[in-house]
Amino acid sequence: MKDAKPQTVYLNDYQAPEYLVDRTELTFDLDPQSTLVKSHLKIRRNPVAADSGGRSLPPLWLDGVDLELLSIAEDGELLPAQRYQEEPGGLSLTVTKPEFELEIQTRIAPESNTSLEGLYLSNGMYCTQCEAEGFRKITFYPDRPDVMSVFTTTIVAPAKYPVLLSNGNKVDSGTTDDGRLRVTWEDPFAKPSYLFALVAGDLQYVEDSFTTSTGRAVTLQLFTEARNIGKCEHAMVSLKHAMRWDEVVYGREYDLDIFMIVAVDHFNMGAMENKGLNIFNSACVLASPETATDAAFQRIESIVAHEYFHNWSGNRVTCRDWFQLSLKEGFTVFRDAEFSADMNSRAVKRIEDVTLLRTAQFAEDAGPMSHPVRPDSYMEISNFYTLTIYEKGAEIVRMIHTILGADAFRRGSDLYFQRHDGCAVTCEDFVVAMEDANGADLKQFRRWYSQAGTPIIEVEDEYDAERAQYSLTLRQRTPATPGQEEKLPLHIPVAIGLLGADGKALVLDKFGSTDTVLHLTEESQTFTFQDIDERPLPSLLRGFSAPVKLRYGYTGEQLQFLMQHDADAFNRWDACQRLALNTLSSLQGQYRAGETLDTPSALIDGFSVLLQNSELDPALVAKMLALPSAQELAEQGDEIDAAAIVAARDFARQSIAVALKPLFLARYQALDQRKPYRPTADDIARRGLKNTCLAYLCMTQDQDALALARTQFERDENMTDVSAALAAMVEYGPKDAAEQTLESFYRQWQQDTQVVETWFGLQSSSAGFGTLDRVRELMAHPAFEMKNPNKVRAVVGGFAMRNFNQFHHEDGSGYEFLADQVIALDKLNPQIASRLVTPLTRWKKYRKHEAGQIHSALKRISDSGELSADLYEMVSKSLA
Ligand code: ARG
Ligand code: ZN
Repeated sequence: MKDAKPQTVYLNDYQAPEYLVDRTELTFDLDPQSTLVKSHLKIRRNPVAADSGGRSLPPLWLDGVDLELLSIAEDGELLPAQRYQEEPGGLSLTVTKPEFELEIQTRIAPESNTSLEGLYLSNGMYCTQCEAEGFRKITFYPDRPDVMSVFTTTIVAPAKYPVLLSNGNKVDSGTTDDGRLRVTWEDPFAKPSYLFALVAGDLQYVEDSFTTSTGRAVTLQLFTEARNIGKCEHAMVSLKHAMRWDEVVYGREYDLDIFMIVAVDHFNMGAMENKGLNIFNSACVLASPETATDAAFQRIESIVAHEYFHNWSGNRVTCRDWFQLSLKEGFTVFRDAEFSADMNSRAVKRIEDVTLLRTAQFAEDAGPMSHPVRPDSYMEISNFYTLTIYEKGAEIVRMIHTILGADAFRRGSDLYFQRHDGCAVTCEDFVVAMEDANGADLKQFRRWYSQAGTPIIEVEDEYDAERAQYSLTLRQRTPATPGQEEKLPLHIPVAIGLLGADGKALVLDKFGSTDTVLHLTEESQTFTFQDIDERPLPSLLRGFSAPVKLRYGYTGEQLQFLMQHDADAFNRWDACQRLALNTLSSLQGQYRAGETLDTPSALIDGFSVLLQNSELDPALVAKMLALPSAQELAEQGDEIDAAAIVAARDFARQSIAVALKPLFLARYQALDQRKPYRPTADDIARRGLKNTCLAYLCMTQDQDALALARTQFERDENMTDVSAALAAMVEYGPKDAAEQTLESFYRQWQQDTQVVETWFGLQSSSAGFGTLDRVRELMAHPAFEMKNPNKVRAVVGGFAMRNFNQFHHEDGSGYEFLADQVIALDKLNPQIASRLVTPLTRWKKYRKHEAGQIHSALKRISDSGELSADLYEMVSKSLA
């Protein structure tokens, strides 16, 4: 049973399923090479499809990939061969009655499954990943989200797998006659096959409990291999916070008696929200102060919450089809972002999310894979777990929240959950619930779902002193994207405020408001404010109220003024970013023209003020001191000149480091308090600014600065400080010393998978250290594993996605290397190959020389033989 040839699927072709599956009973007899799967399905004609479909019974289609069909019976009788037909991608069955039961036996080989989709082995433990279309690699089934069924799962396994898990509640367990273990799980909530999960292994667990708002006790269990049992606490605490938050903020209570999380080392994505049995990439759930950085602690908190929140936004109410993926992902990302904002610093969380959006989502939306948040078509759905679906999708939900207001948004979400509980629905249903609950009109707003590309807003202003009138004129346009030449004006909420010359907020209306939301709905619109007694400075797009590029001709002085006085913390940071972007873009121009580069005095002055102000939130200061990444600069410019970007950035950072060394040092010393590690917002902020200062200090390459890094490293207090010191030593210190330090670090941590991943990533992404030769050495290291996505992401991804300097080496060797790895990976794991090819897909944006090199690397992939559907879609769309 091979997969079908890559074909394009269209949203417009959607048809309700011909048949429904009321009950699904599965029995797994586990074996690495020969797992037997018995499925017993209670099937009936879908009345909805029958209404429109005439009287004869159409064939039943069951998806199936890489399965060996052993037998198939209907209502207890083996089916004769003429009743069914195996085809690429599945099985077609002649139907003779509107209701019947099927019993299907298949054989699969989890050990040979390197795609990590379906049932596979990770360090000897069985686990599953079924979203989006992995269930078809387990058994023949209508593997689509609008077929929802009640599942009962029996697992039979040798005694060396004492832990046998599936969705729902454990209803039976025992041993078979031949001494194997048998457990049965029943999930009372009807669900699509993509939410199915199974785990079997020799696992330990930690247990806790949570009492819901109505007083029900829920058992919480987190399963890992024994060596990781000490790394579960943070995830458990995060889970309980998330459960409470969803009750308070959304009125959502957990519904089963047990909630389980399992940590798995081999995993394609971050985590998966299977009903009652979430499965996590171990890097996204396991943490201890000694082994995990602050960033990891915060990532874990948000992913644990994200998967938990899916229990309502995803599981209780799911997607009708995969074009609606953002229905659950955009909404759930918005929910987890608000949760993280409530748990930590709201402004910092927003800054991090916006940085990701501007760097990577804007780039995606300007490239060959650009697609609307609700795509019209796809070849391989795995390719559409994108920043656009997730992050831009979350921005759409945030805009609805901004437009309606918090209370109205909550009324809308209550109606949405109430109306669609137990159903598979669409993005349209979500918007309609928001409208119906509030009598609101989101007609034009809907275009955000169907129109791709990042809108650009140009702003001009005018002040009329005589009339005391100030007006802002906003013009919007969205650049063409593949398959979408014409763009319509969107409904864009633009949050703003006005600052007076003393930095105070001006009053905007007769109610005394000092901020407001402009509703830009036309191509061009002018908004006028009365009784404005002085020419104000506008603070625009506060809190990044819409995912757009906003242009306004701020001067350097105005940006510095905003950095200090804007009431909106996000916009203070953004003013600093704009200042840095302007500086870096003129430095790039000077570099290209062969001129000497100007000292970035405006930035140095601005940073000097920041460093001396101990009143400001250190986390915000750290964010302001961080220059935009090379990737972000690449997205911003019209044509990417990699060498100019690297030169401009290095020069600016170097100049800042040298000019402000005493201030960095003073701040470093003040913040370097030796307290026991706690992952609280305050402590994370302190360590963040401290380590930003350390990095700048080490950029000077001065002995005393590098000695600080060494001392911090040797104190070995927590992984945040240790890895920051190590990174600084590797990047800026002498090479021999770096080699030795890396070596001893590895010896200390070689048993710890997560730390080894950090160790790999730190080297491969280092601008100075992570040469292609080094990356090849890392791939030959015994701890590297091509079949483990985390290792591949750390080494190959670190180099191709986070090491702008070395990856874009002028001889094109980085591109050829990536092409080789993509070709090799495609045979093992198409999803990973397809993600990794991303940097090559943007070839058109580079200068002619690099564009040619990247194009030929892509071409070589395309000519390398038969590609997976995943990789084929990426490569063919990029070459088109
Ligand atoms: N639903 C999961 C999450 O966002 C991600 C699943 C990704 N699966 C995939 N095949 N790409 O929490
Ligand atoms: Zn999700």
